[in-house]
Amino acid sequence: MTHHNLRVPITFLSLLFALALQLPSQTTQTATDNLPYKDASLPVDQRVSDLLKRMTLEEKATMLAGSGWMESAPIPRLGIPAIKMADGPLGVRSWMGSSAITNAANAPKITSTSFPSGVAMAATWNTDLVQREGQAIAQETKALGRDMILGPTVNINRIPLWGRNFEGYGEDPYLAAQLGVAYIKGVQGERVIPSVKHFAANNEEFERHRLDEKIDERALHEIYLPAFKAAVQQADVWTVMSAYEKVNGKYCAENDYLLTDILKNEFGFQGFVISDWASTYSTAPTVNAGMDLEMPGGPPLHAMLKRPQTIMSGNSGGWLEADKVLAEIKAGHITEATIDDNVGRILRVLILSGLMEHPHSPGGEVDTPEQRKIALEGATEGIVLLKNQNSLLPLDPVKIHSIAVIGPDALVARTGGGGSSLVRPDHAISPLEGIQKRVGSAIQVTSAPGVGMEGEDATHDTPEARAADLKQATDIASKADVAIIVVGRYNKNESEGFDVKTMDLPAGQDELIQAVEKANPHTVVVLNTGDPVTMSKWLDTTPALLDMWYGGQEGGNAIAAILFGDANPSGKLPVSLPRKFEDSPGAKTYPGQNLHTDYAEGIYVGYRYYDTKNVEPQFPFGFGLSYTTFEYSDLKLARITFAGKNPIWNFTINVRNTGQRSGADVVQLYVHDGHSKIDRPAHELKGFSRVELNPGESKTIELQLDNSAFQYWSPTTKQWTLDPGTFEIQVGASSRDIRLKAPVQIGR
Ligand code: BGC
Repeated sequence: MTHHNLRVPITFLSLLFALALQLPSQTTQTATDNLPYKDASLPVDQRVSDLLKRMTLEEKATMLAGSGWMESAPIPRLGIPAIKMADGPLGVRSWMGSSAITNAANAPKITSTSFPSGVAMAATWNTDLVQREGQAIAQETKALGRDMILGPTVNINRIPLWGRNFEGYGEDPYLAAQLGVAYIKGVQGERVIPSVKHFAANNEEFERHRLDEKIDERALHEIYLPAFKAAVQQADVWTVMSAYEKVNGKYCAENDYLLTDILKNEFGFQGFVISDWASTYSTAPTVNAGMDLEMPGGPPLHAMLKRPQTIMSGNSGGWLEADKVLAEIKAGHITEATIDDNVGRILRVLILSGLMEHPHSPGGEVDTPEQRKIALEGATEGIVLLKNQNSLLPLDPVKIHSIAVIGPDALVARTGGGGSSLVRPDHAISPLEGIQKRVGSAIQVTSAPGVGMEGEDATHDTPEARAADLKQATDIASKADVAIIVVGRYNKNESEGFDVKTMDLPAGQDELIQAVEKANPHTVVVLNTGDPVTMSKWLDTTPALLDMWYGGQEGGNAIAAILFGDANPSGKLPVSLPRKFEDSPGAKTYPGQNLHTDYAEGIYVGYRYYDTKNVEPQFPFGFGLSYTTFEYSDLKLARITFAGKNPIWNFTINVRNTGQRSGADVVQLYVHDGHSKIDRPAHELKGFSRVELNPGESKTIELQLDNSAFQYWSPTTKQWTLDPGTFEIQVGASSRDIRLKAPVQIGR
């Protein structure tokens, strides 16, 4: 970079000032140590403005672009360190090389705990657990010498085929917001920098660098932005990553409406905006729209930009490099005040995270027993029991003598979907290993892939190989007391960068299930995938069905614990599972035409669509069975309290475990509005609570609603609006299993 032609006007006074402080001399350690910006006892804003005053315009401009693939630019003269980043959000991923080569065989081996996919964590509905996961990931980030973890992903699962559905927290904005906030609190509590992503509405991978999404303002505010708003207002998140695509005609990285009007002005975001990797297309419009830090930068970016696949995919970058920014300042297209705001935000985060004083260095412990335990808890609590005819599950190890473990996802640990979130664990447990470990020598375990994973190994994709694989599977199934089939996808056919082609299972898997079920009526099907799959070919004859999503490195142990009843399933669907793709609300306009796509369904995403338009999904949002049963009673508005002037409605519900086993349930509270001036969904999730109960035990849980639970975003007034009247509070075990209802008068 060439900055030598820049002239910074230095007045006589400031020269004197600089001399008095003896800047930038390296020999005055003690004098500089006393500088206000280094004084941790001073307020952050004071430290930021002190530091800004000491920076040259050139230094400030340098901080707007990354210096490497995963490093921001340091200013050593002032002791400003580079922020060292690593991909998340499902663990700490190797930060060397581009995403495409990070996991390549020759990349330096960086291992860390592989946590369950976001959708699996969402299925736990356990904010405490997600916070502990965030904390554990932050500890590993530090132990590996990094400062920032690129997560959580809070984009809404709008389309069943989105390649990154596994990464996010499902289809509901309230649930995604609660879990995103929990993750961020866990990370920031360790003074590691999170990055909530991707702002906004990254809901398909198709042409993600060129696609223009038409989204109405109401859908943006009610569906796609709440998780980001909560990250800002409830967790004071330190960074937000912009998305790749265009929203309403403008790239997210230069979308002033999204970045400045909404994020910074409306939500009050104080941290910095970071671009998604190579997603900038201009200098002044991007800086002026509110982009603070462009990533990546330096030689890795330049190497990347030259690659044919980069050009083909539509990535672009390097626009915020210092020389370009300085030229635009000189031309009067960017003001110094704007740059001060950009840099001030980055400095603020550097100070808040303690990095100015304590940069992290590698050498700490990763994948500790505690971290592994959290990964296991997540994998276990995230498993959803979808069907359990005649109580086939849990399996009784005393009565069973042999098990056939079958499927392309059974013998290999399929820990996560592909792309930047895929973590390389030191070890990972496949379902087969988990089951073998659980049963030891007491039960005979046989295994067979049954069918090759489509596309993974061409020698298994021929008709002859398929027939032989299938025969081997049905042979062992017919000789076993129970057959367990694990089907689904893996990181090469469900990944960031492209959408899943079809909701159907990969080739041969439906046939495998059908054949094994014929060979053995005691068959348990386990789904190992992030996206929904069509089940019509076998569901009616399948006695037991579990969804383990991608369970991270402990997935195999978790599924074994659930199969044998060591753990009682408590996962609930964070997404509706449609019967077929065409039933899903966004299907009509997906993937769009001529690089434009219309979010024509507006706010009717997920169960908001299925429940309002009476389209029956295969399994509804919030659904999940248990080995015990729960009963709800006594829904009451217990009291109204106040947070300042704002009323809080406190509802109580009694939950009782009416079965024979200990277990956990997730009580869900939905609000139905039948009187508003505007069309509203049948109901919306506004509260939930996960409760653990012993057999016969009951607990009274309390759920609090504030004004926001009853509001909609009015496209006319462009404000959140509450139409006073009678609302219905619904309590249920899924969006379609409402068990208690109570009217409540609001705003009169
Ligand atoms: C992804 C981001 C990721 C970044 C850095 C992008 O392709 O969309 O989620 O953090 O790469 O690897």
